[in-house]
Amino acid sequence: MAVFIRTFVAIVLCSSAAVGDLLGIPTVPFTLTGKGHYDVHTTNSIVVNAQYANATDTNGWTLIPPTLSQFADTFADDFADTLGNRMRMRTGNQPQSNSIFLTLDNCTDYRNAAGRWTSEAYSLEVTDDHVVISGASPLGVWWGTRTLSQQATLNGGLLGVGSGVDSPGWNTRGIFLDVGRHYYPPSFIVEMCNWISFWKQNTFHLHLSDNLYNNVDIYSLERQLELYARFRLLTNDSAVAGLNLHPNESYTRQDFDDIQYGCAARGVTIIPEIEAPGHALVISQWKPELALDGQIDLLNISYPDTIPTMETIWQTFLPWFHTKAVHIGADEYVDSQLTTNALAGLYNTFVNSMNTHINGISGKAMRIWGTFPPMSNYTNNISKDVAIQHWEFFDDYPYQDYIQNGYSVINADDHFYIVNKYSGSYQQQLNKTLIFHGNPSGGAFAPYIFDPNNSTNNPPKDSPFVPGHIAAQWNDYGYNTSTYLEAYYSWRDNLAALADKQWGGNLTEMQYDSIFETLQAAAPAQNLDRTVKSKGSTVLQYEFSSFAPAASGSHKVVKDLSGNDYNGHTDCLSSMSNGSIVL
Ligand SMILES: *[C@@H]1O[C@H](CO)[C@@H](O)[C@H](O)[C@H]1NC(C)=O
Ligand SMILES: *[C@@H]1O[C@H](CO)[C@@H](O)[C@H](O)[C@H]1NC(C)=O
Ligand SMILES: *[C@@H]1O[C@H](CO)[C@@H](O)[C@H](O)[C@H]1NC(C)=O
Ligand SMILES: *[C@@H]1O[C@H](CO)[C@@H](O)[C@H](O)[C@H]1NC(C)=O
Ligand SMILES: *[C@@H]1O[C@H](CO)[C@@H](O)[C@H](O)[C@H]1NC(C)=O
Ligand SMILES: *[C@@H]1O[C@H](CO)[C@@H](O)[C@H](O)[C@H]1NC(C)=O
Ligand SMILES: *[C@@H]1O[C@H](CO)[C@@H](O)[C@H](O)[C@H]1NC(C)=O
Ligand SMILES: *[C@@H]1O[C@H](CO)[C@@H](O)[C@H](O)[C@H]1NC(C)=O
Ligand SMILES: *[C@@H]1O[C@H](CO)[C@@H](O)[C@H](O)[C@H]1NC(C)=O
Ligand SMILES: *[C@@H]1O[C@H](CO)[C@@H](O)[C@H](O)[C@H]1NC(C)=O
Ligand SMILES: *[C@@H]1O[C@H](CO)[C@@H](O)[C@H](O)[C@H]1NC(C)=O
Ligand SMILES: *[C@@H]1O[C@H](CO)[C@@H](O)[C@H](O)[C@H]1NC(C)=O
Repeated sequence: MAVFIRTFVAIVLCSSAAVGDLLGIPTVPFTLTGKGHYDVHTTNSIVVNAQYANATDTNGWTLIPPTLSQFADTFADDFADTLGNRMRMRTGNQPQSNSIFLTLDNCTDYRNAAGRWTSEAYSLEVTDDHVVISGASPLGVWWGTRTLSQQATLNGGLLGVGSGVDSPGWNTRGIFLDVGRHYYPPSFIVEMCNWISFWKQNTFHLHLSDNLYNNVDIYSLERQLELYARFRLLTNDSAVAGLNLHPNESYTRQDFDDIQYGCAARGVTIIPEIEAPGHALVISQWKPELALDGQIDLLNISYPDTIPTMETIWQTFLPWFHTKAVHIGADEYVDSQLTTNALAGLYNTFVNSMNTHINGISGKAMRIWGTFPPMSNYTNNISKDVAIQHWEFFDDYPYQDYIQNGYSVINADDHFYIVNKYSGSYQQQLNKTLIFHGNPSGGAFAPYIFDPNNSTNNPPKDSPFVPGHIAAQWNDYGYNTSTYLEAYYSWRDNLAALADKQWGGNLTEMQYDSIFETLQAAAPAQNLDRTVKSKGSTVLQYEFSSFAPAASGSHKVVKDLSGNDYNGHTDCLSSMSNGSIVL
């Protein structure tokens, strides 16, 4: 009987009857098949299919994928947070009344934009008795739980009876943060992961080394050697002794593990970037002999020790990285004093050497920023298993130069760049018009749209050479132009809209405006808005006439009368009169 029901369900789920979309961020293809609702408040348990309880997604970017059970536990925490009830966890092999059943299956519709199977897809089936979230993998189930939380939030806990199959168009969806020129604490990074996960984004690319400014040759050599330059990873390994001289704004292996595991728990993979041979002043400050004469933020690739030094750095840190792909930067290797030609050949040699090294010792794939696309007159081109991260048309034409030559290109075009206070060329917010109307052939932006003004420069939507899209935020003007939270503020209003497009969602601008703030307030496991919880409309009420007795010595407690118990504490009270206090 159980088998019969499962088969029947599979047929319903995979049929391609007229599909509407559930409003959500992203939208969810869904067909209402009957009358009635499932009220999530009546849920008393999450049932994890025992057969798959310990299954993991081995197809994603992370090497530390949570099991289905672990994702289920995280979901239960969210459920308690957002909907107020704590559910029992059980294992079983079929849905029960008033349960949310989490399982795996292989629906034929689990296809991405290129028509290929994706492990991130899931089916959602709602009856008036229970809900089934069935994933292509545990990660697919996780995204399905995001849908359930969002729909419950938007609809007072009521899910319409019906079913749908939801697959992301692209497997790389997320953000990039320049943590090289501005430090951010691990807890902030994990909070950001928790936030973006609610919008089904799966990638957080961290730029771990860099320096101020781009054209360091305007300074004397002495001054260049003192310019702000950072390498954020910190180890005692003698192989890199002296590379990181700033331990207090660094990530130890433990910190970096906390970040990676924290993010992976919600389906977000950290992609680490260590930048060279450009933006590499921190390496020149460490080993000045490696620098290119005259512009020391560039490494001299033909100096015999340069490539071995970069290999040593990677060899030291590769074991830290729980991901199938790493990024070596390789951006803006441009020296005004030398010809481009001379540098391009060396640059390609450098990239290919690093690729052989990194892949050879770790099996990991490598990414670079688009810089010198293949040319018939080059003595060598970059290996085709290196993924290119395009950012500017003055460096490359991603479609013509790379994709048509068989390279994968991640879209990070700078029309979505944010450069913190204050860039002459870049905004402080994501361009919402571009998100909803950025397809030059009409319609919304999508990861395959590199050029929002000219379709000729974009591959077809189903090109298998576009893994996805990443929105980058840079700190060109350094560590003291913005606070940690300003990185979030720049993304807050419009990143979720972009996430809809990175997934392949169909949200319109008006729909987005109508649901974003409601969902934002429900996004679990973060408080990036730093909302202060309050029982009533008064958050805090001190009347400086009623001090509690001194707790000890001069310590005084100012009682909060709002009911929230946000009592004030002081040990420097000097006097008090007329309802005011002098500290
Ligand atoms: C899953 O793994 C845990 C820990 O290794 C083990 O105790 C448990 O029995 C496994 N569960 C299933 C259903 O295989
Ligand atoms: C579904 O198919 C994929 C690709 O063949 C496979 O990797 C995966 O394990 C299958 N999942 C299930 C639940 O059978
Ligand atoms: C370096 O070693 C010292 C002494 O063993 C230890 O206290 C410290 O935590 C280590 N630092 C790092 C970054 O591993
Ligand atoms: C690290 O130390 C520097 C120099 O003392 C200081 O300016 C900075 O605020 C410290 N950073 C953190 C995160 O504590
Ligand atoms: C780069 O290193 C090579 C080999 O040591 C040296 O001959 C050359 O002058 C250096 N070039 C620059 C521009 O620093
Ligand atoms: C190759 O040709 C391109 C386009 O004509 C030119 O910009 C570049 O400098 C040439 N590179 C070399 C190594 O000759
Ligand atoms: C580099 O790529 C270009 C464009 O595909 C090709 O014409 C050229 O033959 C390649 N050069 C080498 C050395 O492989
Ligand atoms: C935002 O994108 C739209 C559509 O491409 C464009 O017309 C507009 O100039 C952009 N706004 C800014 C501030 O760049
Ligand atoms: C597209 O062209 C318009 C008009 O020339 C320009 O304002 C806009 O910035 C361009 N958009 C992008 C992303 O290049
Ligand atoms: C669009 O791009 C193509 C290919 O790069 C170019 O030839 C054409 O001039 C562009 N069209 C416009 C209107 O800029
Ligand atoms: C901010 O950083 C820049 C670049 O390092 C430095 O020139 C400037 O003095 C700093 N400003 C303050 C207020 O610390
Ligand atoms: C978007 O709409 C298309 C066309 O109706 C549909 O095939 C697709 O499943 C929808 N995608 C999402 C994520 O809602």
